[in-house]
Amino acid sequence: MPPPNGTDPCLIVIFGASGDLTARKLIPSLYDLDCLGQLPERAAILGVSRSELSDDAFRDRMRQAVADHSKGFCPDRVARFAQRLHYHAADGADPAAFAGLRDRFAALGASHNILRDHGMPNLLFYLSVAPALYEPIIENIGSAGLVAEGKRWCSLNPAALPWQRVIIEKPFGTDLDSARALNRALGRVFEEDATYRIDHYLGKELVQDILVMRLANAIFEPLWNRTHVHHVQVTAAETLGVGGRAGTFYDHAGAIRDMIQSHLLQVLALVAMEPPASYSADSIAREKIKILNCAAVAASEEQAWRWGALGRYGPASDGPAYAGEKGVDPARRTETYAAMRLGFDNWRWAGVPFFVRSGKRMASKLTEVVVLFRAPPLDMFERLGVKMPDEPPNRLIINIAPTEGISLRVAGKVPGAGLKIETTKLDMDYVERFGGEHIDAYGPLILDAIKGDRTLYKHRDEVEHGWRIVQPFLDSQRLREEIETYEAGSWGPGRADEIIAAEGARWHNPRVGEVR
Ligand code: BG6
Repeated sequence: MPPPNGTDPCLIVIFGASGDLTARKLIPSLYDLDCLGQLPERAAILGVSRSELSDDAFRDRMRQAVADHSKGFCPDRVARFAQRLHYHAADGADPAAFAGLRDRFAALGASHNILRDHGMPNLLFYLSVAPALYEPIIENIGSAGLVAEGKRWCSLNPAALPWQRVIIEKPFGTDLDSARALNRALGRVFEEDATYRIDHYLGKELVQDILVMRLANAIFEPLWNRTHVHHVQVTAAETLGVGGRAGTFYDHAGAIRDMIQSHLLQVLALVAMEPPASYSADSIAREKIKILNCAAVAASEEQAWRWGALGRYGPASDGPAYAGEKGVDPARRTETYAAMRLGFDNWRWAGVPFFVRSGKRMASKLTEVVVLFRAPPLDMFERLGVKMPDEPPNRLIINIAPTEGISLRVAGKVPGAGLKIETTKLDMDYVERFGGEHIDAYGPLILDAIKGDRTLYKHRDEVEHGWRIVQPFLDSQRLREEIETYEAGSWGPGRADEIIAAEGARWHNPRVGEVR
């Protein structure tokens, strides 16, 4: 089935409207969409939070948020966009709040002329709240009868009925058991195809391009397997520390939960999955689930230790060591860096190591995938005594951020007399080729949810497999006890180098300022 492409009128209900994500990402990216003419003409937005605020006071706050975080602030456009914004003070965890909310949905549906049968507009719920509030809010939405009975419900004219969908933020659980419990709570109220588990990495252009590159070109597929690929690396490195989020969130999460389980396993799945039967949400989800299902998971504490490395950053010139950040309990030994060796037990990838790492306060800000192909079968030039380049050729590098592009590193002859070989690049720079700055990933992802397109969202099973894969690393006492302090501004702890060296490889650590 082709993806649905109708942008129905709807009411976007943001729980957590006074939070950081709403101000930094959600409202500015909805405004950017509006400026591009992509937000449905009749879409209204209702912020819900406990603080008492009038619609006008909320609009003032959001005007500032747009000024601070959108791609292009324009007073006239903001004034027009603000007409879509409303606010309702309520505690989403309190069932008693839902009678008032229901009335408000109906009233806004009427005033924006978006009511459908049963006196309700289409409702897109966005849960941008503390994870502890996910389940109570979902339950309350269900108990208030706001969600039609989905597939079990039968109508002669289903298209006239309003739809209800929910976007749910990460962290999606803290381990496999809690993720399953949250999935069950969602499943009691929403159909799976009305559930949108958001991962902003899936909205990144170059993450989307992984599949396009693989499926729209015939040259990669024959090489994309254990016969030709030596190993794959996925890196997400950041130069900033954890800062203000340390005590409230990060110290209870760490790099594995915050980045690897969520974002990087998705990137890995797109690199490793089989081609889907069609470019559709269901087919892609099916293949991602299949590949995650055959991940080679560390089978023992000893193996998790051998395949993993944890670190936390030391002091920097502009900030304390992680252990000294406000709100951190050093005894918890939370990692700000994690590296792990993974693999996939299927015919395509058996025996090929996949290395994943993510860290804060690293040498460069970059997110990339590196595919190293196997060396030529004969070392013809080395036999002649020709020095091979230090920087390995034969690599495909997908730069996801901050620069965007794809390059193939190949060995070539240096012009001139004699035989000298250097590594050079076949390079495609996205911005150079396609120009412009893209709008933040959140906007297009929310738009997809309005259209009912789940291609860039995560299925229940993907999330649960993600937890199953990282759980042995989270559970390993030895990894936790041996957590290393790495120098801020470096490429992380030494043990991470040993993990990759054990497979005859090394990390791609570009020099500062030389990401591509
Ligand atoms: C978030 C994490 O999901 O992703 C943050 O919670 C991290 O800790 C951020 O900084 C990284 O996103 P990006 O798009 O800057 O790579």
